[in-house]
Amino acid sequence: MLPADAYRWQHVHRVFSELATRYGYGEVRTPAFEETELFVRTSGETSEVVNKQMYTFLDKGDRNLSLKPEGTAPAIRAYLEHGLGAPGQTTRLWYFTAFFRYERPGKGRYRQAHQFGLELVGSPSPEADAEIIEMTVDLYRSVGIDTRVNVNSLGRAETRARYREALLSYAEAYLRDQSEEVRKRATLNPLRLLDSKDPEVIAAMAGAPKVLDFLESDSRRHFDQLLCLLEEARVPFEVAPNIVRGLDYYTDTVFEITTDLLGSSNDALCGGGRYDNLVADLGGPPTPSVGVGIGVERLLIVMSELGIEPDRPRLDAMAIAATDEARPEVRAIARELRAAGFSVVTDLDGRSLRSQLKRADQLGAGRAVIVGEDELAAGLVSLRDLAKGDQVSVPRAKLIEALRGA
Ligand code: HAM
Repeated sequence: MLPADAYRWQHVHRVFSELATRYGYGEVRTPAFEETELFVRTSGETSEVVNKQMYTFLDKGDRNLSLKPEGTAPAIRAYLEHGLGAPGQTTRLWYFTAFFRYERPGKGRYRQAHQFGLELVGSPSPEADAEIIEMTVDLYRSVGIDTRVNVNSLGRAETRARYREALLSYAEAYLRDQSEEVRKRATLNPLRLLDSKDPEVIAAMAGAPKVLDFLESDSRRHFDQLLCLLEEARVPFEVAPNIVRGLDYYTDTVFEITTDLLGSSNDALCGGGRYDNLVADLGGPPTPSVGVGIGVERLLIVMSELGIEPDRPRLDAMAIAATDEARPEVRAIARELRAAGFSVVTDLDGRSLRSQLKRADQLGAGRAVIVGEDELAAGLVSLRDLAKGDQVSVPRAKLIEALRGA
């Protein structure tokens, strides 16, 4: 990430962190790597992320470690390790983190990428799901993107077991002609057949049973309440029975926002859901939770596809010494202007007036503040507007006022 792009990242980071703060979320920063076991126990052994995509290594002490492939498990590990919550209490966390997945790189798909994440830990209420989804839509809106959320419910373990069987028996005819590898993957996690991007699989699964028809009554009630809350919040959404997510820890609610602006058919801009067993799976008390991960690279691609351009940082002025004698004065001017909030550069290498003016142009400086022999003697500076090319003399003491006025 280079300076020509970094300001876009700074913009998104600023907008997101301010919004998360407004909703009462506190920031958590977790390490780049964790014990591999953390991800195996949470994201799951049947998920591709854990199975195929982790950067795993032994360190010099023979510890089995992995670069984090996602942000939720590390945040919850920190939550437990540092006692960030108590039973029955709600804890709200956000993070902006790099994550690592050994994937086939493409547009919006990288091996090191970044996520903005929210985790609402400790509430079983559909109001918690609604808060996370409403915030997600609010985050996109606050950088200028209108979105529609696809929501689904995967129910609980019992639902999943019954649904798994139904899906497998539905897919049997299709799977019969497939390779050993495909059959093995499908048997391990048949739900993934539903979010395949392979047109053949999509066609084969078109009439598959829907998980929503398998929900237990508690899950059904939770889902219906969530849909009412989303309507109340005027969140644009659609029920999308094919959303299954690629990580194993989800229970009940899952959601994604997709876009076709990334080139491939239906790529996820963000994804999240409820994970009521994860904290307990890591040795904590039962702590129902819900969260979301927003892909930052994908967001930035969509922003530029839509022509959404945050303000670039401006260089207000270059302070220029026309003679060597003026250099200390120019340094003093640069110092004063920076203290007053202007961004200012100076030449460090004794270049000619002409080459400094050329450089100021290249750097996109709005103005040149020039001090030479005459200006030094008269207590003046020459203020040149580099876009218009006009130049005026300003008393040294009135420089800040002149810059502000212009
Ligand atoms: P995830 O769906 O695996 O969820 O990732 C979240 C988002 O990260 C995706 O929707 C996508 O925008 C972005 N993303 C994923 N892989 C890549 C990649 N290789 N390159 C660029 N962007 C990518 C999670 O990671 C969960 N931890 C989300 C969550 C939080 N669930 C509950 N709390």
